[in-house]
Order: sequence, then structure tokens, then C-alpha cells
Amino acid sequence: MTATPPRTFHVKSFGCQMNVYDGERMAELLTAEGMRAADEGSAADLVVLNTCHIREKATEKVYSDIGRIVKDGREAGAVPLIAVAGCVAQAEGEEIMARAPSVRVVVGPQAYHHLPAMVAQAAAGGRATETDMPAEAKFAALPKRRKVGASAFLTVQEGCDKFCTYCVVPYTRGAELSRPWADLVSEARALVEGGAREITLLGQNVNAWSGEDDKGRKVGLAGLAEELAKIDELARIRYTTSHPMDMDDALIEAHGLNPKLMPFLHLPVQSGSDRVLKAMNRSHTAAGYLRILERVRAARPDIALSGDFIVGFPGETEAEFGETLQIVAEARYAQAFSFKFSARPGTPAATMGGQIASEVMDDRLQRLIAALQRDSLAFNKASVGTRCEVLVERKGRHAGQWLGKSPWLQSVHFTGDAALGDLVEVDLVEAGPNSMGGRLVARAAA
Ligand code: 5AD
Ligand code: SF4
Repeated sequence: MTATPPRTFHVKSFGCQMNVYDGERMAELLTAEGMRAADEGSAADLVVLNTCHIREKATEKVYSDIGRIVKDGREAGAVPLIAVAGCVAQAEGEEIMARAPSVRVVVGPQAYHHLPAMVAQAAAGGRATETDMPAEAKFAALPKRRKVGASAFLTVQEGCDKFCTYCVVPYTRGAELSRPWADLVSEARALVEGGAREITLLGQNVNAWSGEDDKGRKVGLAGLAEELAKIDELARIRYTTSHPMDMDDALIEAHGLNPKLMPFLHLPVQSGSDRVLKAMNRSHTAAGYLRILERVRAARPDIALSGDFIVGFPGETEAEFGETLQIVAEARYAQAFSFKFSARPGTPAATMGGQIASEVMDDRLQRLIAALQRDSLAFNKASVGTRCEVLVERKGRHAGQWLGKSPWLQSVHFTGDAALGDLVEVDLVEAGPNSMGGRLVARAAA
């Protein structure tokens, strides 16, 4: 335990991009209190574990991380103050406090604006827990955004009312809540002033975002994206994650109308079997989903599609899994994520009959991954020989090498005269399933 207030901190975020965003905001809050981020690889006075609860072993991982931090701290002569944030904190805060005496702070995803005060309380010898869900208060209490990378996240919506039967999100993140238009426009401006050329709008159900514009008109995500596109220095807008049932006409059309809206859509389907989809409470069929993809492709023919899949949902038969392979073949994804079903405590699917053996899930997962890799490689190969704009986001491993993203969210590496945040023209010359090799043509006007 630290007797004096912490001066340096590490925030370690696990899981989704919303957690990455929350982790950045926590770091900003702590910085505003006079603390500074500890250097990479060195010890900090405060460690915030910003946890994820979406799939198995998340809680065990948190306990083993805590154990390791305590052990390393003892060896180095000072155990840092440990705070557990994120969705595991929300779901299992009380148990963590009971089981791990070295944890001094437990703070849920909707209460982290109180983190500095809780840390101060803990540093004074106490312990602090807060897992209330007053989401609106949180955003209003966060400091103004400052320096950010070329590609920045902006949470526009939180929570979920869909209650898919396998998912913990409605319980850990609470009900759907859209942040107000004016707050988002001003946060986006601050991000661009801080160096962002691309903004990814985030939400568990981002396309369920709704609000009122400055004239009091009701708008959805397409309207928000249209407003943000007016910010001159902002070159690219993305959004994730969307639900098929919230893919409204305006958003589909926006892909053909808003030139800053990137040709990429992450639209999880989870399964290709109507029976499984029903048991998942997904409220769409496989055919209904494919119809949405068709309409999106009609609006933006070059759009790259991405999805999420769960294999081994309770009761899934081999034939039903075959329907998932079928929808994959029809959708032709540019990339996708696939997961073994994980029984999450408190969700309806966790106690459904017909739980599938782990080896069966492994086998299905391997076959699904093979199919998805075949498609992502085909997508990337089809881009070889084309020229596109790449947003430079990071230095590569080799001298003079840069990493960036194409409009279709392909990772592109190239060498040459460029700088972080540049939009450069690149010829795509090489394709792998997960990245592309490019040749620099020109540095585009900044
Ligand atoms: N088991 C396996 N995968 C899950 N996901 C959500 N909950 C579970 C679960 N219980 C996956 C879904 C979702 C993605 C973020 O995580 O595919 O889209
Ligand atoms: Fe979870 Fe379904 Fe909501 Fe996505 S839509 S967050 S999978 S409950």
C-alpha cells in the first residue's frame, strides 16, 4: 500500500475499443490531477486495470494480474496502489474487494470520473468502490481532450437494450444512452485540434445513437456523421459496433453520400442459422441480414464488410454451424472475428440445455477461421494493383517503415518519406490475410 499520493500511473486496458477510449479518459483525468503516465516498462505508483468481461477467464485473468503486480512490487520494494475498473469491476466488484485485499479501488465503467477522488481516498489508507450507473454525469465531468494520435476514438453511445442471450453488456454497461449532439461536436473538434485526422465513433450499439441537432431536429448517426464531416481537418469518419436492426435507411445511404465516411462496416451477425439467431434473441434472420448487406453494397459498392461470429452456442448442430459457413461464403467479409461461445454468469444462454463440448467448438472455430481467412486474403489480393490513401498511424519495425490504414481498414506498411498523421498515396503491391504491403507514391496535401 502506498502511504503518499501516487505520482505516476499505468492504465492497462483490455477488451474492446470502448475500453481503450475509457482508458484514455482515465489517463487524462489522472494527468489533470497532476499525476503523470509512468514510462513504458517501468513501475508506477498506481496501476489501473481496465478490465473486460465479455468472454471466459476474464475474472481469473484479473486476479492473476493483481497477483503478479503485487509480487513484482514486493520484489521491487513498493507495491503500487491497484484500482480495478471496467466491466469486471462492474460485474464482480464486491467479490474482488473481498478476495483481493491489495485492490484499493473498484470503479465501474459509468463511474470512473470519480477515479481521482477514489484514488486519493485509497492513498489515505481507505478503500473505495463505486459501480453506480449515472452515465451522463461521467462525460460532463471529464476534462477537455488534448493531444491525441492520428486516429482517435469518440464514444457517442453506451450500453445496450438488445439483451442477446449470451451477452453481459446490458448488465455491465447498462441501458442504451446517447451522448448529446453538442457535446459530441465539441469533443470531435477538440480531438481534431489535438491532431486527429480520423475519428471512430464508438458505441456498443453505435448505430442506435439518436439525438437532436442544433436546430432541434431529431437525427441519427448519419446526421451526426454529416455534421462532423464539416470539420475541415477531419479526413475520415468510422463507426463501430453496429446492430443489423439499427441499420436505418439514412445510415445506409450515408455510405454513398458522405465522402468522409469510410467504406467499411462492422456488422456482426453471430450465426447463419435462423434457429440459433432466435435462441440468441438477435431479432433478425440470416436472409434479413444478407439483404442489409446488399443494400449497403448498393449504396457503396466497394465497401469492406466485417462481422463477429460465435461458434458452439448451446444446441448448435453441425448442420446449423454449416449455415454459418454458408452465410460467410455469401457475405464475403474483408475481415471478421470469431469466438467460442462462453457461458457468462447471469446470462440466459449460460444455463441453456445443449452446451457444446469445448473440442467441438475448437473444431468449428478452426474451420470458420479458415473460411474467413480465405475471404480476407481474397479481399486483400483484389486490392493489389490499386492506389489508395493511407493514414499514417505508427512507425513500423524496420528503419524508415510506416504503418497505416487504407480506407477499407487494411493495415498497410510501406517505407519512405512520411510522418505520423500524414495522408499519403500508396500503391498496394502485396497482400496477406491481415496486412498489405505498399509503395509510397506521394505525400498528400496535409
Ligand atoms: N461468448 C462468446 N462470444 C461472445 N461475444 C459476446 N458475448 C459472447 C459470449 N458470451 C462476442 C460477440 C460480440 C463480440 C464483441 O463478442 O460476437 O459481437
Ligand atoms: Fe451484446 Fe447483443 Fe447488445 Fe451486442 S447487441 S452488446 S452482442 S446484447
